[in-house]
Amino acid sequence: MPDVEDPEPAPLKIAVLVSGHGRGSNLGAIMAGCSSGEIDGTVELVIGTRTDSPALERARNAGIPTIVVSPRKYQDDEAGYAAALLRVLGKSEPGLICLAGYMLKLPDAVLEQYPGRVMNIHNALLPLFGGKGMYGENVHRAVLASGVKLSGCTVHFVDNQYDNGPIIVQSPVPILDADTPETLAARVLVQEHKCYVRAVRLFAKGALSIVERRVLGADPE
Ligand code: GRF
Repeated sequence: MPDVEDPEPAPLKIAVLVSGHGRGSNLGAIMAGCSSGEIDGTVELVIGTRTDSPALERARNAGIPTIVVSPRKYQDDEAGYAAALLRVLGKSEPGLICLAGYMLKLPDAVLEQYPGRVMNIHNALLPLFGGKGMYGENVHRAVLASGVKLSGCTVHFVDNQYDNGPIIVQSPVPILDADTPETLAARVLVQEHKCYVRAVRLFAKGALSIVERRVLGADPE
């Protein structure tokens, strides 16, 4: 019998969740990382919360299937919202779910179904400047008001609290005297795209492991 080589691991199937009117620039970075081969994976599905989302349009323009699961339809019915998300996710069986401008809390039932397989990006250096209500420009305003000299971004695994799960990669961005929330946001966003692609690339390679609060396998290369 000839030796049978181990089959190559299949490319990672990625589902991306966005909410509201998100512009989808992190989604775009992940899509580009997959098309360039930097990430050994494909974006199989983008789930949004409304049809007129620019992020969904970005996906549709690239030929990626999109679907809207509207949380408004499930007000006060988290189980119903979770079941709807799980139904949709189940069809593409993603190996990784990326939250990219998804400002809602992912229902526990979804996290339980995909343990260690959900990532989020945050536009500051966690564990500071995170939590409920800390999104978009609010974050940069709070960072500037605090007087810290460094901001940046964080990609982390998602648990059942906002911006709280184990940190995968972070990138610092120095704060300048002339910064406004807008100028800081623009520089942080450049780093967000790099960080998210790096985190997904490492995950797709199977390089990451979670040991208590620490994620190992993301040392600087
Ligand atoms: C980013 O700043 C991200 O950190 C935060 O939401 C924003 C999404 O931006 N979670 P985009 O839609 O990816 O451009």
